[in-house]
Amino acid sequence: MAADTRRVKSVEDSIRDTDEPEHRLKRNLSGLDLTVFGVGVIIGTGIFVLTGLVARDQAGPAVAVSFVIAGVVCGLAALCYAEFASTVPVAGSAYTFSYATFGEFVAWIIGWDLVLELALGGATVSVGWSGYLNQLLDDIGLALPTSIAGEEATVNIPAMVIALAMTGVLILGVKLSSRVTAVVVAIKLAVVLLVIVVGLFHLDADNYSPFVPPAQPAAEGEVGWHTPLISLLTGFSQGSFGWGGVLAGAAIVFFAFIGFDIVATAAEETRNPAKDLPRGIIGSLTICTALYVAVSLVVVGMQNYTELSATAPLAGAFAANGLTFFASIISLGALAGLTSVVIILLLGQSRVLFAMSRDHLLPPTLARVHPRYGTPYRITLITGVIVALLAGFVPLSTLAELVNIGTLFAFLLVSVGVWILRRTRPDLPRSFRLPAVQVLPWISALASFWLMLNLPADTWLRFVIWMGIGVVVYFGYSRSHSRMATGERRPAGAERTSRS
Ligand code: ALA
Repeated sequence: MAADTRRVKSVEDSIRDTDEPEHRLKRNLSGLDLTVFGVGVIIGTGIFVLTGLVARDQAGPAVAVSFVIAGVVCGLAALCYAEFASTVPVAGSAYTFSYATFGEFVAWIIGWDLVLELALGGATVSVGWSGYLNQLLDDIGLALPTSIAGEEATVNIPAMVIALAMTGVLILGVKLSSRVTAVVVAIKLAVVLLVIVVGLFHLDADNYSPFVPPAQPAAEGEVGWHTPLISLLTGFSQGSFGWGGVLAGAAIVFFAFIGFDIVATAAEETRNPAKDLPRGIIGSLTICTALYVAVSLVVVGMQNYTELSATAPLAGAFAANGLTFFASIISLGALAGLTSVVIILLLGQSRVLFAMSRDHLLPPTLARVHPRYGTPYRITLITGVIVALLAGFVPLSTLAELVNIGTLFAFLLVSVGVWILRRTRPDLPRSFRLPAVQVLPWISALASFWLMLNLPADTWLRFVIWMGIGVVVYFGYSRSHSRMATGERRPAGAERTSRS
């Protein structure tokens, strides 16, 4: 590969860029704001929808174990993100980190990959939001026609409206959006705690047995493109249930944890990033893991896993126990909860694209910050319109797995990047240092890769196609327009050479 694709942007340059007046974001956020942000984006479709789906089809009551496995993989990645974010506190998350370690090409690839997590994730959750809205409207006899709402809609109007409304809030300013988020997060947490506390009084011990239902091997005709890649590669089809089902379930419920990494994308808007970022990332992940395990244990205890609802398992389990009033409250909480997920995914996406255009890998005019609101309004608006169009017109249920594979790939690169940056720049101040740095990053990378292998083969195919398009755009535009190519910025190695 040509040497220029490996040019590394120095950490110092990344930090210096944040001080250019036309690109400066307002530093408004505290450690608590970041934790609220994290919880706001983490708790969403995963716990409100996937718990039931995975328990019913793959893991049985052991879905709680799937959550623990996914939580451990994310915990390892979170430690790596925390060290990186405390070393390179600049907008752009994994993209910025990669620029400082692997070089420009990998940075571009990761930025392109993050679109899968953030934009596609935002669209997926917008569609879920629309489904919950329609369910609530249905409760009061005002359901919208399924042609304009819900996952099967031809044009999903509520999904488009929520994506565009949240874009408007983001353009008006991060402080406003973090206030909106705080209220929404409070409602969401209250509902999750309500599920745990009220549910505890309605458990039936019989529902926990068997805890890990016996494995059911896949029938011959069932092995195909939607089989986990690892099964196709090893020739061992794990089918559903059993420990194989618990593992495949972990790759799906992984979606529920997506978001802690987005805390790192708000680095430039944080008052004391070196201290507050690790706090926000690890704090929000820990809170959510504990809540997920508790919620999933309660839900499978309230209703037999074979009978759980695939679309609204939490509300469904309450309704099945005659607690219909609580069921409506839970649906309302889910609606509020998904709102904050949409807004923060949009925030993350606009900040990553902002960082990429500031480096001129995308047209620089997109990185302009609004003179009054101090937000990157152009890129936010473009992101919001694209997400709204995706949410409105694309049936996203099968594409949700693409969100997982894209995110896991980012985790993998960030984990290895931590190890590389310790070797290439041991001098940099790190307020958070990963323990056992010779081993942990590699365990984290392998754990992410292993979950990727548990995703279906067709997901891998779509992933490879998307990344292929990214390679074409890089060599067609970004490589020659990059600030490093035009001489505005010198690669880190060149800078060090000229100093010596
Ligand atoms: N973790 C987020 C959710 O579950 C993306 O909706």
